Amino acid sequence: MNILKEIKNRKTFAIISHPDAGKTTLTEKLLLFSGAIQIAGAVKSNKIRKTAASDFQEIEKQRGISISTSVLSFKYDGYNINLLDTPGHKDFAEDTYRTLTAVDSVILVIDCVKGVEEQTEKLMNVCRMRNTPVIVFINKLDREGRNPIELLDEIEAKLEIKVQPLTYPMGIGVSFRGVYNIYENVFSFFKANKQRVEEEIERFNGVDDPKLTEWFGDDAKKLKDDIELIQGAYDHFNVSDYLNGNVAPVFFGSAINNFGIKELLNTFVKIAPQPQPRDTTSGIINPDDEHFSGFVFKIHANLDPKHRNRIAFLRVCSGKFERNKFYHHVRLNRDIKFPNPASFMAQDKTTIDEAFPGDVIGLYDAGNFKIGDTITEGEDFMYKGIPTFSPEIFKELHLEDPFKSKQLNKGIMQLTDEGLAQVFIQNNGSRKVVGTVGDLQFDVLEYRLLNEYGAQCRFRPLNYYKACWIVYENEDDIAELKRIRSHNLFFDKHNKLVFLAESQYSITSAKEKNPKAKFLFSVEHNTQTHELEVG
Ligand code: G4P
Repeated sequence: MNILKEIKNRKTFAIISHPDAGKTTLTEKLLLFSGAIQIAGAVKSNKIRKTAASDFQEIEKQRGISISTSVLSFKYDGYNINLLDTPGHKDFAEDTYRTLTAVDSVILVIDCVKGVEEQTEKLMNVCRMRNTPVIVFINKLDREGRNPIELLDEIEAKLEIKVQPLTYPMGIGVSFRGVYNIYENVFSFFKANKQRVEEEIERFNGVDDPKLTEWFGDDAKKLKDDIELIQGAYDHFNVSDYLNGNVAPVFFGSAINNFGIKELLNTFVKIAPQPQPRDTTSGIINPDDEHFSGFVFKIHANLDPKHRNRIAFLRVCSGKFERNKFYHHVRLNRDIKFPNPASFMAQDKTTIDEAFPGDVIGLYDAGNFKIGDTITEGEDFMYKGIPTFSPEIFKELHLEDPFKSKQLNKGIMQLTDEGLAQVFIQNNGSRKVVGTVGDLQFDVLEYRLLNEYGAQCRFRPLNYYKACWIVYENEDDIAELKRIRSHNLFFDKHNKLVFLAESQYSITSAKEKNPKAKFLFSVEHNTQTHELEVG
């Protein structure tokens, strides 16, 4: 099997959006178009919402929000496409950031009524950090949205990326008539229809074609003016600008009505990058390197509530992965083989014999994996780029039943390995502070500690503001911290010293009094490198 051919055939991406912009709907429509699912029409009926796509954790079903990140693999136009689903809820943003380390490009969904929202900006910042290529899909054109030109300007200003509309809408809301493909001079007629997959299209001879006015009257004039404005304002689309993360092509459509999806998908497969080289502690590794390597970006527990198994999601970065072959777990310095590696289609798991760069495979895990672990064919390097950020909310963990302390300890350690939360330890482990990005994670932790580990616990709110990792050369550098603020000093799971600060003021003052120490809001455990030094 020619590995280069396999690499060329693959596209690994994520769809990101502010909650409610239409990420789930678009995901389901892409699956529908590709034939991966057969339910035509209202794909977001309750049935599919609960059973298909990625909502398969019990807690998700209860809350109806997509908490977990999972993988949907499908074929389209001869390509193997891996769509990594990301949690919609902002409390699980860190999970989304980690998933973005495992993709080669993203599709960003924007609601045309709301424009660029808070979470859109944050996600785009993460994409910009890695120069991830972005395609923008402006959704819900069937609703009374904002002026498209205004939206394009807002995207450029707030997301700090140049845009390049490849289609342009005629009308919006009740007067929405369809989109004009600027480069192919094809008009797709909009009909609100959740059942229909085919679009009705008509070819024109440019926006000056008299047929356009004949068909659309005054609307044609407005479209012509807008497109002329766009053509004057934006450069000709250059795929390499998109691949470098400098320009985002933009599509308009309505996911719920199956409108604009095919165009998006056809362009996506044409221009989206194939699996890309990645940075490691031993330099850049290319996908066509003959040796297999990959890294774990997500650990998913308890797919089957009857068994407490975990699945580590591994992104294959180079070479060919083979079932039942011994591979090297770099952090543990151990060789492990995987008899049942899985690929995913929502709840359906299929055992696979081999996987290629860009693929995401699920490895059954009895507790060997942490997020960020690297697997190789024997080489001793780690993939870079999976940072840990300071949590936003801190609570102290209390056990309700003292006889369950072993279960609680095991539970909290395993759940934090999954990246659900971080734990900071004091007094040889007798005091544990749990830090998360959002409040919802505490509900998930409480639920899972009880249901999976039998430990009833309680969280007591603490008024910490941020966790700062402390980097120092010798003990004298942190003498004042240890003397005056020992009650604020904790250890993380990697045994790194962390200062839990009540306020920005306390960080500033601690920095002044311990000038030789560095205070960091983010660390990368694999490489011992540090980012985001506290200002
Ligand atoms: P998310 O994953 O980004 O959070 O968004 P999701 O797809 O769940 O969509 C959020 C809401 O927007 C849903 O309505 C969905 O039906 C609606 N929606 C998605 N695409 C379009 C579109 O093109 N036009 C219009 N008008 N609405 C759209 P809901 O009422 O929250 O859910 P449901 O009852 O429809 O399932």
